[in-house]
Amino acid sequence: MQAGLAKLIGLAGETNVQGEEQKKLDVLSNDVFIKALISSGRTCILVSEEDEEATFVEPSKRGKYCVVFDPLDGSSNIDCGVSIGTIFGIYLIKEDHEPTVEDVLQPGKNMLAAGYCMYGSSCTLVLSTGSGVNGFTLDPSLGEFILTHPDIKIPKKGKIYSVNEGNAKNWDGPTTMYVENCKYPKDGSSPKSLRYIGSMVADVHRTLLYGGIFLYPADKKSPNGKLRVLYEVFPMSFLMEQAGGQAFTGNQRALDLVPKKLHERSPIFLGSYEDVEEIKALYSADEK
Ligand code: AHM
Ligand code: MG
Repeated sequence: MQAGLAKLIGLAGETNVQGEEQKKLDVLSNDVFIKALISSGRTCILVSEEDEEATFVEPSKRGKYCVVFDPLDGSSNIDCGVSIGTIFGIYLIKEDHEPTVEDVLQPGKNMLAAGYCMYGSSCTLVLSTGSGVNGFTLDPSLGEFILTHPDIKIPKKGKIYSVNEGNAKNWDGPTTMYVENCKYPKDGSSPKSLRYIGSMVADVHRTLLYGGIFLYPADKKSPNGKLRVLYEVFPMSFLMEQAGGQAFTGNQRALDLVPKKLHERSPIFLGSYEDVEEIKALYSADEK
């Protein structure tokens, strides 16, 4: 058992087709999701962070939903036991044509549903089907998810900011000014607290429940940021808006973005409505 577990966790990662480190659990969870989604008979196109190309479901097993997902986000945290999760978004295909990649290269506002599952001290499923956000907790004794967080609303303003500040020397002006203002507020209010796990599901989950802002901005080394539009930025932006918050890319509402490639990246600022308003104002002042 111990040896089997160690083999699964695998300290030495391999690289995927995108040149990124891939843990054994990344590969395993991807296989589990792809197989489950195909055998559901409800899906036609699957886009996973772990696969360079989209998977087109064969006609005999095909349904009308396109699923975009990151099977195990934050996998660099696996070996130290920090919370990780699965992120997903669902689009509906128009039924009168053969599925193509264009069916998933749609703005996030066209998603029917989005959510994440967080594997932490409890297993939590947060889901929106476009009319609010609900949170469910797995009861292992029943094998069922129980509605524990009905109609989640993010606080209008928060006291926490969440960003990888190690990248600060490469940030642009508005991000630098925003974070400076979190630490040394010019209006005399209290500084915000910094919390950063480096696992998007956990950082966004805390932001959703406690309020505040999560940032993965552009920087000189990564002009489009790090996070992927289809299966990281869109689902989390969808949930934030459904909970009364906002999501912004640095130049537009995140859910209005139209991706041109499956694994496209975008900067993202998401969280409490008023906190995101502040960063929007800094970017719009910077354009003038
Ligand atoms: P992954 O999809 O390869 O796991 O990378 C995404 C993760 C996010 O969960 C997290 O927000 C981000 O990478 C952290 O990046 P960094 O270590 O640069 O702060
Ligand atoms: Mg990811």
